[in-house]
Amino acid sequence: MNFELSETQLLIRDTARKFAREVVAPKARQTDREEIFPAEAYRQMGELGLLGVNVPAEYGGAEAGVVSYALAVIELAAACASTSVGMCVTNMCAELICQFGSEAQKKRFVPKLCSGEAIAGSFALSEAHAGSDPGAGSTNAVKKGDRWVINGSKQWITSGAYAGVMVVWARTSNAGNKGLSCFLVEQGTPGLTIGKAEDKMGLRGSNTVPLVFENMEVGEDRLLGREGDGFKLAMVALDGGRVGIASQACGVGRAAIEASVRYAKDRHAFGQPIGDFQALRFMLADMTTQQQTAELLTFRAASMKEKKQPFTREASMAKLYASEMSNRVCDHAVQIHGGYGYIDEFPVERYLRDARVQTIYEGTSEIQRIVIAREVIKAAG
Ligand code: CAA
Repeated sequence: MNFELSETQLLIRDTARKFAREVVAPKARQTDREEIFPAEAYRQMGELGLLGVNVPAEYGGAEAGVVSYALAVIELAAACASTSVGMCVTNMCAELICQFGSEAQKKRFVPKLCSGEAIAGSFALSEAHAGSDPGAGSTNAVKKGDRWVINGSKQWITSGAYAGVMVVWARTSNAGNKGLSCFLVEQGTPGLTIGKAEDKMGLRGSNTVPLVFENMEVGEDRLLGREGDGFKLAMVALDGGRVGIASQACGVGRAAIEASVRYAKDRHAFGQPIGDFQALRFMLADMTTQQQTAELLTFRAASMKEKKQPFTREASMAKLYASEMSNRVCDHAVQIHGGYGYIDEFPVERYLRDARVQTIYEGTSEIQRIVIAREVIKAAG
């Protein structure tokens, strides 16, 4: 077991940290308050290799591995969770196309995602009535000659109004989970309409929209993977995606702890810094221990993915623990700040709002528990 970071991992972490602190963090409050989609940040992140951290260099990625990816997401999320979620989904789409795409698909779409030319990638799986159970989705794709005609709608699509490349799931037969297939769709395709952006509690700089497909046609060369394999592609992508969301939760949790320590040292009550009270010290001790535990779980899952070992259970454990940790830690951070934690003069109210969705998207905590329990029972034979 080696806890030291490699040179590559340090380089990616430090690149992400510098960019996050100097460029992203100063705008984070405005990004949230004014719901500014961070398109320019994504272009710059493309130049820095942060949109394809675990993508082979021949397709425009940094080829730096999954642990590097987790380190980079933590840095971005500590600065601005809104910016980090689009980064996560773009990396996830680029990796999925690399894993299952034809050579032509990889050459056409992956460099656009990694460079920032596409601004972002979207992962269009969920529907209004099919979130935890994506196999119940009803968007359908019908083959007409050498074209697929797609009809239906998607919900909660991150970066949907801006993403140049979208991965879209649609039903190609009625065979339940085995009837789903996966398609590559470009922004501006006739028949694709972007719905009204959601007015969210947190991650307000991230764009979340419904997509509507009305006789949207794509060529047969846009089928990603084999017909009927869409559900498995989604599960494989989400295993990796959950490492990303776990990293995001670690980053937000870390930022909340740092803000709390600063405040606890500055703020005085009863003639002493409030950080001298044992009640706060115990809170800070628990927050830090839980945040570090989440990082260890996250790096373990990332490292297993990097070594191409099965990591479904570990990714779900990291995502479950880290997302619940960030909610607890951010809640404590608000408590430590007292009244100041409840207004936007300090960043902790934003952290708490941003953390809230982490136990919901890319699989709720309840779904993670289902996945973990199934894997535990399966392993027992
Ligand atoms: N890797 C590879 N294959 C997998 C897999 C995995 N991790 N998990 C399941 N599969 C395979 C199974 O082996 C099975 O294959 P066979 O039929 O050949 O045996 C097939 O997929 C069906 O699996 P299940 O029977 O386990 O499927 P299920 O219907 O019981 O569902 C589930 C399992 C884990 C609950 C799954 O539906 C799930 O993960 N749901 C949550 C969905 C989710 O996370 N949505 C998030 C939306 S995306 C998002 O939030 C992105 C964003 O923008 C931020």
